[in-house]
Amino acid sequence: MKKTDIIIIGSGIAALQLANQLQEQLNVTIITKKAITNSNSYRAQGGIAAAISTDDDAYDHYQDTIIAGDQHGNATAIYDLVTEGKQFMHDWVKLVPFDTHANGKISLGLEGAHSKARIAHCGGDQTGKYVIHFLLDSLRSSTRVHWIENEMVIDLLQNKSGRCIGVTTKDKNEVSHMYMANHVVLATGGAGELYTNTSNASSVTGDGIALAYRAGAKICDMEFFQFHPTLLYINGKSVGLISEAVRGAGARLINDLGEKIMKEVHPQRDLAPRHIVAHQLFQQVNRGRKIYLDIRQVRDFPAKFPAITKMLQQHGISMKTGKIPVAPGAHFMIGGVLINAWGATSVKGLYAIGEVAASGVHGANRLASNSLLEGLVYGKRLASYIQQLDSSQTMDFTPKKQHRAQLTGIPFSKKQIQQSMMQAVGIIRDHDCLSKQLSWLNKHPNDPFRQIEQCSLSTIQNYFMWIVARLITEAALLRTETRGCHIRADFPNKDNEHWLQKRIIHYQSNDRMEVTYDTPYTIKNHT
Ligand code: SIN
Repeated sequence: MKKTDIIIIGSGIAALQLANQLQEQLNVTIITKKAITNSNSYRAQGGIAAAISTDDDAYDHYQDTIIAGDQHGNATAIYDLVTEGKQFMHDWVKLVPFDTHANGKISLGLEGAHSKARIAHCGGDQTGKYVIHFLLDSLRSSTRVHWIENEMVIDLLQNKSGRCIGVTTKDKNEVSHMYMANHVVLATGGAGELYTNTSNASSVTGDGIALAYRAGAKICDMEFFQFHPTLLYINGKSVGLISEAVRGAGARLINDLGEKIMKEVHPQRDLAPRHIVAHQLFQQVNRGRKIYLDIRQVRDFPAKFPAITKMLQQHGISMKTGKIPVAPGAHFMIGGVLINAWGATSVKGLYAIGEVAASGVHGANRLASNSLLEGLVYGKRLASYIQQLDSSQTMDFTPKKQHRAQLTGIPFSKKQIQQSMMQAVGIIRDHDCLSKQLSWLNKHPNDPFRQIEQCSLSTIQNYFMWIVARLITEAALLRTETRGCHIRADFPNKDNEHWLQKRIIHYQSNDRMEVTYDTPYTIKNHT
């Protein structure tokens, strides 16, 4: 058993930012399921939204975030995100190789639902790769940062008072390990792999949610899962993301009849909030139409989007036709482990930052390019919270003995979970398909894997996906309105009387999934 100050699970932008902020004072262990660069952050194309231009204002960024989030966001958290994010990016653009114009001024892109061009980007469409390498470079020489790759955290260890005191992992040879720490941080990303069509890395299976849920943490807003309108779609499969920045640079969505899909739908047309665009595309597909992104109006496409150009070439898509086949797919999990303003969860000693966390900044639908910003801001916030804690306190590091149950198998495969979620809990939901999906999921006995280290990694991963699928489906069934990216065919309107600012929170107690509701926010105008 090894002991460290802080364990960070995951290696995306939030994880590396936190490690960077703490590396001088604390011993940090970063545990990641695959290689360090295998994360959604690394794949991020668009960039980082921040009001750093002289003609922009954090208040405008705040308003855009509130509106995109369909009035469900936490106004205070959003205000902190855009103001602290602006401050951080103001300094960071001097250090990180963000793209600039010939005159040296930072080049800022436009994306959906933003009132101003405020997306800082690197390498054209390779922002994630550049910022992750920048953060990794600043960690490489640290003697206090210890890396563990290709190990999956399968359980959180808690002492008798319920405090999280460490983790159990399994390496790729299925050997178990135990690590103890004063603080354990989930930075595991989202759960796009629960769906057949996704932009996410294949390792992104909702592990952090399942770990936290099993430990008794509160899980919130799971009905809000954002679908990105434009995944490259080849032979009935999504094979990569076509950034919204491409539409920001002038591309338009058309169908196979050549009709402009977003023309009459929304004043912002192709740059309307993502759920509106994804909904329109879904309806086109239902009518049997094929969808394309028409890039003929985008000047210097290969120079602006080199990674996308390479991906198109790899898939044999000719740039000459100017038509890229696209379809919507699961992109970003808005809900997650409920946290406070600093990243603390409802379980002592356990924190969550980045996509795995429900911080309230995304409301019911995330504004484009606010996710890397969230990782940077909450990584820094949590570091400052941990730095001011009293480290002289003695802690009980004896893991509480778990009640042991017999193991049973998962009666369905990863593929079956993905297909059923795509069909029943995808872009459009209704009561019938959600309740059918829930009874299918509930065929599985409740939480049979307390002897989890005896299961294979693939069984554990399926089990975690099953937990997250249940949480999403339960929450989607409960929210009887349409808000943000949660679109109910049987409740097509917003119901402010019953649902405004109301959050659905699930937690496990005595092996049962319990639900509670919370309305902690008021939409405030900050001046
Ligand atoms: C994109 O580049 O379209 C994705 C950016 C984001 O999800 O914020």
